[in-house]
Amino acid sequence: MSQFLPISVVGVGLDGREGLTEKVRKIINEATVLVGSERQLSYFTSSAAKAVKLGNLEETIALIKTHQEASEKIVILTSGDPLFYGLGRLLLEHFPPNQLTFYPHLSALQIAFNRIKIPWQNATLISAHGRNTEALVKAIQRGDKKIGILTDYNNNPSAIAQLITALDLPFSYQFWVCENLEGTEESCRCLDLETVKSEQFSALNVVILLREETPIPDLETLPSLGLTDDLFLSFPDRPGLMTKREIRPLILAELGLKPEQIIWDIGAGTGAVSIEIARLFPTSHIYALEKTAMGASLIKANCQRLNVENVTVIEGSAPEKLPNSIHPQRIFIGGTGGNLTAILNHCEEQLVTGGRIVFALATLENLEEARQWLREHQWLDRILQIQISRSLPIAHLTRFSPLNPVTLLTAWRINQS
Ligand SMILES: C[S@@+](CC[C@H](N)C(=O)[O-])C[C@H]1O[C@@H](n2cnc3c(N)ncnc32)[C@H](O)[C@@H]1O
Repeated sequence: MSQFLPISVVGVGLDGREGLTEKVRKIINEATVLVGSERQLSYFTSSAAKAVKLGNLEETIALIKTHQEASEKIVILTSGDPLFYGLGRLLLEHFPPNQLTFYPHLSALQIAFNRIKIPWQNATLISAHGRNTEALVKAIQRGDKKIGILTDYNNNPSAIAQLITALDLPFSYQFWVCENLEGTEESCRCLDLETVKSEQFSALNVVILLREETPIPDLETLPSLGLTDDLFLSFPDRPGLMTKREIRPLILAELGLKPEQIIWDIGAGTGAVSIEIARLFPTSHIYALEKTAMGASLIKANCQRLNVENVTVIEGSAPEKLPNSIHPQRIFIGGTGGNLTAILNHCEEQLVTGGRIVFALATLENLEEARQWLREHQWLDRILQIQISRSLPIAHLTRFSPLNPVTLLTAWRINQS
């Protein structure tokens, strides 16, 4: 048994005393020491308790311990739920659990989700308050559907908006900023990224991101090459599974394309490579083979969205479903489903004289298997190891965020370079 009276840790909202239950008000009324921020203490100025302003944590803890030893009735005021990214965790590092009793208020994120009327049981909840944005970057890149974020002075809504832009996502987010929740100046607004980047917000805010369906692109403004990833519809469960914008031009260059060619894109995924080729070479024709039904329908939908008509989508596995009598000048292999050797045997038969194959490889095993086949069949090759990093704003600074490395293997028959 502890010889000390338990310390009450009470969550308080911007509605101060009013938002508390009768039971919690009674605990505060009976307190002889009240610890809290200036704002939290301001709700209880009529209390006769000694007020301790939360400052340096170590010093405040030492002071609380002195009051505890003097058998004072201590109440520590915190914001929201003390055990949700709050003071509670730190208090548990300094006091045994049996010396602490928690009386949570609603978390700012719980209130925010309720204000915008979105069920939040399946949301990803992240604190960027006094922390780095690593977990946030991962959640955004994964394309989590609902993300609730606790912010701070540096990781504020504008910095988060800049981060989203820099990540060049294959989808977009509705961006909600919820300020001064439960206060007289409460506001919850859905804003576009550019507005968020330039606006100043109240220090008390949380951000909610809700993933949106990809909007229809404005075809007039699209570049001829280098479409941004967010223009493509992608796999809902694997939004990152796409050959990235910075890699696609290198693949096109390695393919050494010319107008009026037949090109096979094997393992076409969402069709990003096929579509870049198709738009740049309208007189060429691309056969995009994709084994998943979802991928095949995504390629068709992406062709339609981007007004591309020179791509034929074939659903099925290579080599079985590869065309037999339509001989390609160029072949791009982005996925093999474990059939690399069989696919290469088929490609060798079908590729026209002077043709070329480019592979995008993610594993050393596939690279080795491909090179062994090329050696045995007397082909030549060259390899490009691509490691690209994009700039990423971190609060008011910038760092590099690496994309997954890709190996491009370009191959041609020995006597037909
Ligand atoms: C250290 S965390 C504390 C979280 C708290 N334990 C909770 O359950 O909500 C601080 C975060 O809560 C936000 N916050 C606290 N009170 C708020 C309010 N009334 N309105 C909006 N955001 C608030 C801050 O802006 C910051 O993002």
